[in-house]
Amino acid sequence: MLRRAGAEGPRGVAEGSPATGPAAAPTESRRPAAGAPAPAGSASLPTWLEALGVPAGLEAGRLRVAELAPDIAVLPSLDDLAAHVAACRGCALHASARNPVPGEGNPQADFLCVGEAPGANEDEQGRPFVGEAGQLLTKILGAIQLSRADVFICNVLKHRPPGNRDPQPDEVLACQPYLLRQIELVKPRVILALGRFAAQTLLQTTTAIGALRGRVHRYHGVPLIVTYHPAALLRNEAWKRPTWDDVKLARRVLDAARAANSSAGTT
Ligand code: URA
Repeated sequence: MLRRAGAEGPRGVAEGSPATGPAAAPTESRRPAAGAPAPAGSASLPTWLEALGVPAGLEAGRLRVAELAPDIAVLPSLDDLAAHVAACRGCALHASARNPVPGEGNPQADFLCVGEAPGANEDEQGRPFVGEAGQLLTKILGAIQLSRADVFICNVLKHRPPGNRDPQPDEVLACQPYLLRQIELVKPRVILALGRFAAQTLLQTTTAIGALRGRVHRYHGVPLIVTYHPAALLRNEAWKRPTWDDVKLARRVLDAARAANSSAGTT
C-alpha cells in the first residue's frame, strides 16, 4: 500500500517522511480550496470516489500558497498570474528561456493536465505542449472526449530548463506557488499528472511511476491520476495501452465528480 505524502518541496524529498495528514476531503457540493492545509487523520476517499472501486493512493499538499508566496496568493486571475510569471526572477531560468510558458486553456476547466517543463517548441511559442508530445496529448484528450479548449494545461516549471535538462529543486520550489495558485483559480475536479517528474513532484514521492498508476491520489484535495508522459509514448509504444487505461480512469473520476456535484446541488 502506498503511503501518504505530506510535504511540499522538491521532488524526492518526502517519501519516508512522516505523513502529516490527508488533504481536506472535498464535499460533494463544493470543490476543495487548493492550498488548504491538510487536517490530521487517516487517508480516506469521499464516498463518491470510493464508489469507483479504485485503490486510494497518496495524499499530498499541505502548505498554503499564502504561506509560500503572499504576492502570488492574491493574484486575481490567470492572466495576472501569467504576467507575474513573465516578470519572475525566482530562479535563473528566465535568463535562458525565450518565453515564459505559464499554461493555457479553459480558466474554469474541470480537468487539469500538469507536465514537467516547457521544451524547445513551447519556449519558442510561449505555450505548453505544442510540440510532437503536445500533439499526442491533444489526441489522448480527444480519446476521452476532451478538447484542449475544455482543459487547462500547464507544467511544474513555467520556464524552459536549458537543453531540456531535468528541473532543479530550487526551480521547482520557486515555481510551486504558481501551480498552487493556478489550481486555486481553476478549481479542477481532476488533475492528470503527465510523467514521472510531474507525478513524483506533486505527490512528493520517489515511488516509480508504474506503482503510482491505477490509483486515485489527491493533491490539495483534488483527485490526481498519474500517467506516462506523451514524450515517453513517442519513444515507447508499449506505454500507449496503459496510458489509455489511465486516461479512461481520469475520465471516470471526472464524470463521477461532476455527478456527485450535481446530485449534491439538487438535494
Ligand atoms: N513536455 C512537458 O512536460 N511540457 C511541455 O509543455 C512540453 C513537453
